[in-house]
Amino acid sequence: MKKIIAVLLACALVLPCFAAKKKGTKVGVSMPTKDLQRWNQDGANMKAQLEKAGYVVDLQYANNDIATQVSQIENMITGKCNVLVVASIDGSALKNALDGAKKKRIPVIAYDRLIMNTNSVSYYATFDNYKVGTIQGEYLVDKLNLKNRTKSDPAYIEFFTGSPDDNNINFFFGGAMDTLKPYLDSGVLVCRSGQTSKAQCATLNWSTEEGQKRMENLITSNGYGPRGTKLDAVYSSNDSVAMGITNALVAAGYTKANFPIVTGQDCDIGSVKNMLKGTQAMSVFKDTRTLAEKVVGMVDALLQGTKPEINDTKTYDNGKGIVPSYLCDPVYADVSNYKALLVDSGLLHRSSA
Ligand code: BGC
Repeated sequence: MKKIIAVLLACALVLPCFAAKKKGTKVGVSMPTKDLQRWNQDGANMKAQLEKAGYVVDLQYANNDIATQVSQIENMITGKCNVLVVASIDGSALKNALDGAKKKRIPVIAYDRLIMNTNSVSYYATFDNYKVGTIQGEYLVDKLNLKNRTKSDPAYIEFFTGSPDDNNINFFFGGAMDTLKPYLDSGVLVCRSGQTSKAQCATLNWSTEEGQKRMENLITSNGYGPRGTKLDAVYSSNDSVAMGITNALVAAGYTKANFPIVTGQDCDIGSVKNMLKGTQAMSVFKDTRTLAEKVVGMVDALLQGTKPEINDTKTYDNGKGIVPSYLCDPVYADVSNYKALLVDSGLLHRSSA
């Protein structure tokens, strides 16, 4: 009993001490853009959870403009932020700005996207990005029945990934391609355009418009259409690019009855609506509330001088060494489970999806 009282007393003395130390402690949160739904959600979650934990938050969105993000980060450093949380636009463009943070001993957490070629990043919090790619790839193996197909009756596919300056595409595209390559090699899966390299399939800034343009070009040059050349599936690494692909396929005359299988990621509202309409087959749900929770835990630990929780010390090399990481779990999503994932979990209101 005495021991319990002693522990309680110690806590009572230490906790207010930590709370007092946190009062006014400032965290800078740099997000790439407000244009895509996911980053608005990420920014809002991070701000809410950090404020709940007692921090003052400087949240900035950089409008997908690298120079804007650099200057926002510089302002966070001069504005005396104690920790920086950064989701980069171009993972290789922040070295100088973050070296400035290191000089002032401000720890930097890379948020969702790894920041490359600098040793000024302390930790990385993200999802298992390779698993995202394998979930998408395995879905295609299953739905295209690739295990039972023969070369005389192959399935036809085109490939799209995201921004070449985002390290995540190595994992999304890599995971999907590792899963699908055996079938491309054996000829039961065919990409008529021959565009299967990461560079050929990249979509700058994950732009819907760029995705749509490339899909329109593929439709024209290969003659794809419900009454034209056969197209069974389009691999897309995420929802913003899938949206462009779907727009082009709808314009080419495809309907729910004959729509090629389009993959995605993020469960953007627009893509959930397309899943309900039958113009996108699946997505991958990444609960950004969990990611925010993990990052707040990292911020707490860094400010208390303890070790943040990590679960991966092998995967993410940023060119200067491995960055210790926490990987959250991505989950397969389609019309059968989107309600449980998005609505019942309290993320969206029933009217929005
Ligand atoms: C994120 C994806 C997102 C994409 C475009 C990636 O870095 O991991 O969730 O779809 O950026 O914003």
